[in-house]
Amino acid sequence: MTLNSTAPREGTSFGIDIGGSGIKGAIVDLASGEFVGDRLKVTTPQPSTPQAVAAIVSDIVKQHHWEGPVGITLPSVVKDQKVLSAANIDKTWIGVDAQELFSGFLDVPFSVLNDADAAGLAEVAYGDGQAQKGSVVFLTLGTGIGSAFLLDGQLFPNTELGHLMVGSHEAEHLASSAAKDRNGLKYKQWAKHLNRVLYEYEKLFNPQCFIIGGGISRKFDRWGQHLTVSTPVFPAHLRNRAGIVGASMAVVEGIRP
Ligand code: BGC
Repeated sequence: MTLNSTAPREGTSFGIDIGGSGIKGAIVDLASGEFVGDRLKVTTPQPSTPQAVAAIVSDIVKQHHWEGPVGITLPSVVKDQKVLSAANIDKTWIGVDAQELFSGFLDVPFSVLNDADAAGLAEVAYGDGQAQKGSVVFLTLGTGIGSAFLLDGQLFPNTELGHLMVGSHEAEHLASSAAKDRNGLKYKQWAKHLNRVLYEYEKLFNPQCFIIGGGISRKFDRWGQHLTVSTPVFPAHLRNRAGIVGASMAVVEGIRP
């Protein structure tokens, strides 16, 4: 799981981010962390079974005429390349051996990791340096809450903080960006829920900082000032690109949780 965060990177790789609503893939320039050409997004099939999703992954790779390594994210715990949970994707993913599954669809080297872990790694490599130092809790706020624990840029994978109970609710049911939309909350109201969640994380893990990614981090200026935890909170640098970029890096750097 070792990531040499400050080493220069070169060449290109390919990343695919699998989510409940879309499956997105792009070629990534490893020197800059930028996409090369267009990102392709395909609607997640319903039901989002492993076979149906893997077929789309293979199409996305083919459409880019890509023949190199492919990194793939899932909204799941991935341990020894086995999928152990499934949030917002079909429950038949649970127990799937990702190596076995994707080797039926891809003729290139590939590896699979949790979506938030990938985003955290991308932030370490291409962010503003904040994620490279000390103990950092990186969170992605989207349909759920994803988390990546980072210590001096090294990943402790599969932390799943979105499912921590805060009072009588799971954290992600209170403070994901989907929870904001579902409950019709304004930024300030939603920030109060996020604050409760961050207090709980702060109490348990005492990180040096929180870094928050996901689409809603783009609007950090609307809600960041309402957070009152003592731990500094920063918006992520990479936002929506992070999953694809992190996956593309993980596969070439041999990060295979
Ligand atoms: C899942 C995590 C995932 C996060 C963001 C959570 O519900 O359990 O594995 O990282 O959502 O997609």
